[in-house]
Amino acid sequence: MKILVMGPPGAGKGSQSSRIVKRYNMPSISTGQMFRDAYNKGEKIGVEAMKFIKKGELVSDDITNEIVRLRLSEEDAETNFLLDGYPRTVNQAIALDKMLEGMGSKLDAVINILSSHDVLFERMEQRRVCKQCGATYHLKFMKPQEDGVCDICGGELYQRPDDTHESVERRLEIYESKTKPLLDYYDDKNILYNVNGMQEFDKVTDDIILVLDTIYD
Ligand code: AP5
Ligand code: MG
Repeated sequence: MKILVMGPPGAGKGSQSSRIVKRYNMPSISTGQMFRDAYNKGEKIGVEAMKFIKKGELVSDDITNEIVRLRLSEEDAETNFLLDGYPRTVNQAIALDKMLEGMGSKLDAVINILSSHDVLFERMEQRRVCKQCGATYHLKFMKPQEDGVCDICGGELYQRPDDTHESVERRLEIYESKTKPLLDYYDDKNILYNVNGMQEFDKVTDDIILVLDTIYD
């Protein structure tokens, strides 16, 4: 099972991906999370990437392709993986196709989570993330049991530096101009599946599972 989860910032890619990888027992590969982890560990690549992330700009294709290439060469990604937020430019999509071709493989499905801009702004303003394990909360719809503390690992919850109003606006602009064109790219390959992301968490998950179970039946 080799799948990609797409959607605008705040659509629920990370929240849904964590449920899907548990169900199908496969690794989740989120380029955004990899950059944040590298930054939190003080690694050079993370510090460099954060300069772009904070402003809502994309990290360069070269750097992003390289971290994905390295991650996909690990043993646990040989037969199954879920990509969250990569590729997000046509160049990255072409690079990914080449990487997979080299491994004698290809993407099976692209799940596109749809949402309106109003909903996205609200979700990102209310989002809190665990500094330690990356788990995602929402102050209204997915509250932690204790304020500011992660239910899973007890880590500190924080607001992502790219969740400012200004940065969210820029991320949405970039999504429209650079990432949305990828939908046609995957639709042409007949592997694109749209899911309504403006429903309750469980309903969105059920819709994604329905698509995946149909494909892998
Ligand atoms: P990344 O971390 O991937 O950010 P993003 O694409 O902007 O998406 P988000 O993580 O903000 O949202 P999400 O869709 O995961 O939503 P979530 O589940 O958290 O990338 C960050 C940055 O890294 C990029 O801007 C770029 O700079 C760089 N980068 C990453 N990949 C790159 C690449 N390939 N190329 C170049 N640069 C790259 O949900 C959001 C909130 O809503 C949460 O609070 C959640 O609890 C809540 N929520 C979710 N679903 C629901 C629901 N159904 N009902 C109610 N609330 C919900
Ligand atoms: Mg995410």
